[in-house]
Amino acid sequence: MKIAVTGRHGQVVSSLVERARVAGHDIVPLGRPEVDLAKPQTLGDALALIGPDVVVSAAAYTAVDKAEAEPDMAHAVNADGAGAVAAAAEQLGIPIVHLSTDYVFDGHLHRPYYESDPTGPTGVYGASKLAGEKAVLANCARNAAILRVAWVYSPFGGNFVKTMLRLAADRDEIAVVADQIGNPTSALDIADGILAVAGNLVDNPDPTLRGVFHMTAAGEASWAAFAQAIFAASAMGGGPSARVRPIPSADYPTPAIRPMNSRLDSSLIARVHGVAMPDWHGAMEQVVQRLLAA
Ligand SMILES: NC(=O)c1ccc[n+]([C@@H]2O[C@H](COP(=O)([O-])OP(=O)(O)OC[C@H]3O[C@@H](n4cnc5c(N)ncnc54)[C@H](OP(=O)(O)O)[C@@H]3O)[C@@H](O)[C@H]2O)c1
Repeated sequence: MKIAVTGRHGQVVSSLVERARVAGHDIVPLGRPEVDLAKPQTLGDALALIGPDVVVSAAAYTAVDKAEAEPDMAHAVNADGAGAVAAAAEQLGIPIVHLSTDYVFDGHLHRPYYESDPTGPTGVYGASKLAGEKAVLANCARNAAILRVAWVYSPFGGNFVKTMLRLAADRDEIAVVADQIGNPTSALDIADGILAVAGNLVDNPDPTLRGVFHMTAAGEASWAAFAQAIFAASAMGGGPSARVRPIPSADYPTPAIRPMNSRLDSSLIARVHGVAMPDWHGAMEQVVQRLLAA
C-alpha cells in the first residue's frame, strides 16, 4: 500500500512510519514547512504528487491547554485543516483514515463511551476535533474512517510516560491526578490499527467499514495508577521511579477542563475491522524499555 500521512515528528505519525515500513508499505509523511494544515492550500498538490492509495490524517493541534488561548489556530488546523485533507482525498478518489479523540465527550457517563453516545466537548481542543470529524464527513463521507483514540504515549514526541520518567529522575514523590480515568494507548498499537483499517478501506468498498470508530487499548486506569505502573516497569528495567501521591483534579487546575471519564468502548472496531488492541500494561512496558534503552 502507498500511504500518505499528515505530520512529521508526532507520536502517531512517527509510529506509523516505523510500523508501515516494517510491514513493507510505502509511506510518505506530509509535514511542515512544506505542508501546513493552517494553510490548507499547501496540501492539495502535495498529496496529488504522491499519488497514495490512502491518506492518514494524523496531524493535529494537540496542545490542549494552549488551545484555550488560541481557539482560532486550533480550529484552523483541527477543523479546517482536517476538512481540507478529506476534500483532497475525495478529489483523488482515495479513502481517508482520520484520527480523533476521547475529548469530544464531556466525561459525565459512568461507563465507557460508545460511538453513538452524544458528544459534548469541555474545551476548545475537543470542540475543534469534533468540528474536524464533521468536516471530514462533510467532505469525504463515503470513504472516511474516523478513529477516536485516547491517552496516547510512545517512544516519540512528548507524552505522559516520558514526563513521568523525566520527573522521577530528580524527585522522590510526584502528585498525579487520580480521579480521571481512561485507556492508556500506545501509538505503536494505534499505528497497527490504522494499517489494518487502511488496508480494509483500500480493498473493500463496504460502507460498514466507514464511519466513526473508537480504537483504544484494552484495560483502564487513572493517571495516578498509570504513573504507578510506569514507575514499576521503569524500576524493573533499572530506570528512575518515584512514589505517586494521588490527588483530585481540583488540586491540579489547568486552563482546559478534562473529561473525568475518558473510557471508550472499542468493541465496534474489533467486530467490523478485526482490530482488537492488547491490554495497555504490556505495551507500556515495551515503550518504557525502549525509552530506558535510548
Ligand atoms: N496525544 C494524545 O494523547 C491524543 C489523545 C487523543 C487523540 N489524539 C489525536 O491523535 C492524533 C495524533 O496525535 P499525536 O499524539 O501523534 O500528536 P502529536 O505528537 O502532538 O503530533 C502532532 C502532529 O501534528 C503536526 N502538526 C501540528 N500542527 C500542524 C500544522 N499546522 N500543519 C501540519 N502538521 C501539523 C505536528 O507537526 P510536527 O511534526 O511539525 O511537529 C505533529 O506531527 C491527533 O489527531 C490527536 O488529536 C491524541
